[in-house]
Amino acid sequence: MDDFAPKNGVLHAEDVPLTRIAEEVGTPVYVYSRRTFERHARAFREGMEQAGKIHLAYAIKANPNLAVLRIMANMGYGADVVSVGEMRRALAAGMKPADIVFSGVGKTVMELEAGLDAGIGQFNLELEEEGSVLAALAAKRGQRAPAVLRVNPDVDAGTHAKISTGKAENKFGVAISDAVAIFDRLAPLDGLDLRGVAIHIGSQLQSLAPLEQAYVRIGELVAELRARGHRITHVDLGGGLGVPYRPDDVFPSPAELGAMVARVTKDWGVTLMFEPGRVIAGNAGVLLTKVIWVKPAVGDPWVIVDAAMNDLARPALYDAFHDFVAVEQTGERMVANIAGPVCESGDTFAKNREIDVVESGDLAIFRTAGAYGATMASTYNSRALVPEVLVDGDRYAVVADRIAAETVMGAERVPDWL
Ligand code: LLP
Repeated sequence: MDDFAPKNGVLHAEDVPLTRIAEEVGTPVYVYSRRTFERHARAFREGMEQAGKIHLAYAIKANPNLAVLRIMANMGYGADVVSVGEMRRALAAGMKPADIVFSGVGKTVMELEAGLDAGIGQFNLELEEEGSVLAALAAKRGQRAPAVLRVNPDVDAGTHAKISTGKAENKFGVAISDAVAIFDRLAPLDGLDLRGVAIHIGSQLQSLAPLEQAYVRIGELVAELRARGHRITHVDLGGGLGVPYRPDDVFPSPAELGAMVARVTKDWGVTLMFEPGRVIAGNAGVLLTKVIWVKPAVGDPWVIVDAAMNDLARPALYDAFHDFVAVEQTGERMVANIAGPVCESGDTFAKNREIDVVESGDLAIFRTAGAYGATMASTYNSRALVPEVLVDGDRYAVVADRIAAETVMGAERVPDWL
């Protein structure tokens, strides 16, 4: 089901024509559907509830807009955060500190202290030293920091190398072979309530097989830790479920993931924690753009749009595919390359792709841009920071302003000795 569909030949976000948003807000602009966010949040919860007692922490990095976080808070989600900035967003959006999980391989002492000050629900430790530092900080305040140890299960997630996190060569977690010894040393520390383990093997996973392999390994580790007398009450299974970017892609559903989790974890007797990002946000947003020129070339023509790699970095970074669809559809098709105005050949969204026929001034969308879209935007080439709009039925709100290049320039100084 999709909330970005044509009505009378014009693409709408729910009941709002995208032509109206382009006219009133300008382009490029991210457009989100509240209905899709809520449907995905519900479907994920229902899927995982098959496995028993759960805690859901939306991975804020996927889309940290405050309005999106408010939706997720209203849907009963906590947050998976990886910086103090993300933690402040989660709190500002109304998420309860106890529902916040702090992940990340490079948490600073300042960030650990900020987490303790806020009373967050769990720290996901990435190395032994982080655990001893956190324990000392917490003990000094008379606190016991709830924590789990992130383990690297050495599983090939079968995804793009840049978003694979669970192989031994990746920087994340402690080696599974070292996990028991580290747990033995950290668990007795006064300032820590070391209550379990965590994994996250990568993002945009297309198959459940690597996840199952990782969960089985972590299940064996839980059994071993318990055999040594450790109390294990929480296992964080991370995020990673992929979404279809191409129209004919087929991906496992949250219900299928939940059924597998229920089968693999049935004897664990723990609270299972999840950190979904993309599967919630990906298809809840599009990037609305305007065609500037259609430039003839020796080969396929270049469709030059007003969105660029600074607005949507995924194609340049991961060779990602985002479906390109004209807002006003004629049914005619053409083969073209699609690129933005930034002065790099990497600023190319598609090569040799069959698309709807477009001309200068036409509007189009890049689909499946709700996750890792606006959040990864920059002002490269002194372009404005892309705005965001949230649609709800037949109304919409601008939920992030366009930040003009002049505003960014306003934060710069030329010292008087120049
Ligand atoms: N938990 C941890 C510890 C993570 O590192 C991540 C994502 C997630 C949860 C959420 O994963 P998801 O459910 O969204 O797959 N910028 C890249 C994706 C980077 C993912 C980083 N970690 C992209 O655009 O594909």
